[in-house]
Amino acid sequence: MTFAKIVEKSGFNEDEAALIAPEWEASEKSSGDIFFLKDEFIRKYAALAEIKPEHLEEIFQAKTALESDAAAVRLLWHYHHLLYRAEKKFVPGQLPPAKRLQAAESGCFYFLLALSGYPEAVALYQRKGYPENVLKDTLSDMSVWVEHYKNQLGFAGLTSRILGWLEGHIHGETFRLGRLQFKPYCKFFDRVEVYRNIKTGVTMALSADGLRYNRQGLLYEPGIDQCECGSWISALQHTPASVTGNPVAPDGYVKSEQITLDTGEWKKVLSEGDPVIDIHIPAIGPMTVEACADSAGQAVEFMKKYFPELKHRAFVCESWLLDNQFEQILGPDSNIILFQRAGYLYPFPHKSEAVSRIFGENADKLGLDSLPQKSSLQKAAAGFLIKGGTFRNGAMFLMLDDLPWGSNKYRN
Ligand SMILES: CC(C)(COP(=O)(O)OP(=O)(O)OC[C@H]1O[C@@H](n2cnc3c(N)ncnc32)[C@H](O)[C@@H]1OP(=O)(O)O)[C@@H](O)C(=O)NCCC(=O)NCCS
Repeated sequence: MTFAKIVEKSGFNEDEAALIAPEWEASEKSSGDIFFLKDEFIRKYAALAEIKPEHLEEIFQAKTALESDAAAVRLLWHYHHLLYRAEKKFVPGQLPPAKRLQAAESGCFYFLLALSGYPEAVALYQRKGYPENVLKDTLSDMSVWVEHYKNQLGFAGLTSRILGWLEGHIHGETFRLGRLQFKPYCKFFDRVEVYRNIKTGVTMALSADGLRYNRQGLLYEPGIDQCECGSWISALQHTPASVTGNPVAPDGYVKSEQITLDTGEWKKVLSEGDPVIDIHIPAIGPMTVEACADSAGQAVEFMKKYFPELKHRAFVCESWLLDNQFEQILGPDSNIILFQRAGYLYPFPHKSEAVSRIFGENADKLGLDSLPQKSSLQKAAAGFLIKGGTFRNGAMFLMLDDLPWGSNKYRN
């Protein structure tokens, strides 16, 4: 099938066609026998990904439909080529979505594309000597997202967005070590500078310059905050002997009153560009303090052994569950609250995923009165929303010097 025919059948516009045109001839040459469409391959790597048998059966059904569409199969091979074989490899975000496919086939298309990279991951782990249990734990994340797809759409599969996320697992950029996932290649580009008092050991974060905060000391968000009244803008000034700025309290609220730190006594320990380990939390059950502490300990050892050159300074995490407003609605024993208290919170922009994460992807379409209220978190979050609250994003850091996890180093 010609490139023009694939473009037409896939419904791509000129720009999209131009994006995927490179390497068409190279992928044409190798497009005969697609190894990752073979049942044996799929069963082997789906077992590594811990895909449930009933989900795998649905994938096979969708694969039969997909295989009857020659243009889709050719596109699938071309995308595999661009991701894993091309001289200049693509990242999934560069691939135009396979939009003409039905949801089940589309789910199968992205599932197969991700699975087709799993042998790369196995080879990488062998080459680098990463432990086999880390390989299994990391690659099993696919099953979480296949389940998610099933819950949202009624059949097993993956979205193009999740293909992008799983690429990090395949290329050794994300590792699950115990309960949590960690990304080693991250730089601290957040909007605080962190200082430590060399005499007392106290840690203090200062806001970056020029950020607007609301009256409460949360980042001013035009989509949430009704007006600019009471809001204020942060300032941060350095002199050779001091730094003056707006302190961020460890619970993430920023104060409008400025303070000056004597830099003879307060050393900067974290700022823009510093190497940090980014934490993610997969949906695999509760995250107890013990599990997180164990996971953080494993991560430190793993990074020291396999990424010593990166010289990480801190863990960082950005998430809907780091919204400091949860303190108002959840009890002190909630794992979310205990997770927040393990680190130093600070404001982080971007829309919070709380509503979809707590009530499901379609929650935005439900009225406030129809939100599911089964778990205590759902009840508390629904009450917060009904009273007019809006969830915000949040972030936290934990300096590696301040481990162990859970010692509440930053709070009195
Ligand atoms: C983060 C997560 C592990 C926290 O779960 P947890 O450890 O049980 O958290 P808590 O102890 O604070 O909450 C306990 C209660 O909230 C419920 N709960 C926790 N997360 C929930 C969620 N996403 N949706 C609905 N209810 C949830 C629990 O079932 C429990 O309910 P119960 O008291 O009625 O038994 C969980 O929300 C999760 O897996 N989320 C999906 C992954 C995610 O959002 N990761 C972050 C990406 S940035």
